[in-house]
Amino acid sequence: PAKAVAAMADQEPRSLAELNRIIAASEPLVPGGTRAVLGEGPQHPAIAFVGEQPGDQEDQQGRPFVGPAGQLLDKALAEAGIDRRKTYLTNAVKHFKFEQRGKLRLHKSPTAGEVKHYRWWLMKELDFVRPKLVVALGATAVLALAGKAMPVTRARGPAEFGGLHGYITVHPSYLLRLPDAKAKAEAYAAFVEDLKRVAAMAA
Ligand code: URA
Repeated sequence: PAKAVAAMADQEPRSLAELNRIIAASEPLVPGGTRAVLGEGPQHPAIAFVGEQPGDQEDQQGRPFVGPAGQLLDKALAEAGIDRRKTYLTNAVKHFKFEQRGKLRLHKSPTAGEVKHYRWWLMKELDFVRPKLVVALGATAVLALAGKAMPVTRARGPAEFGGLHGYITVHPSYLLRLPDAKAKAEAYAAFVEDLKRVAAMAA
């Protein structure tokens, strides 16, 4: 993999399409995923969202945020008055990593080393996409964008990532995992409030 990164750095992409061709042709760092799931959406949008890594559905369909977390994100975006099609959506890590349990493919979080491996691509991608505001959804996205780990609960809100204006909030999967209905509803409402703030900041 280290060799692969060096080879990619030699192939300095001149456009997002070129970068995407390199990503799509690359082997997953951890064997398993079907394909690289590329970012989706217009260049120079008001808002770009960065998630963690594609899940089972994303891996099958080849699109980011189309599974359960994506559906919750869609609902929250709609409530915050953000048109998903006008935003750019991508992930810190481009390949699905999982543990096979019978027929189920259970999501496994990327390691810090894996996030670092994919970081070069993400930063190049954002150089081309040039959003007004980049939103980190959860700790993995924060690690990728900031280049260091930061607790989401304390860092939540406006942030700067290198030269990029950013915003830190929770990952929609976190909301799905909360066991208590009341806590879930409150956390979801706070997420929608974050998205409203993001929309105002990027307007
Ligand atoms: N979770 C993510 O972080 N990204 C996706 O694309 C789907 C689920």
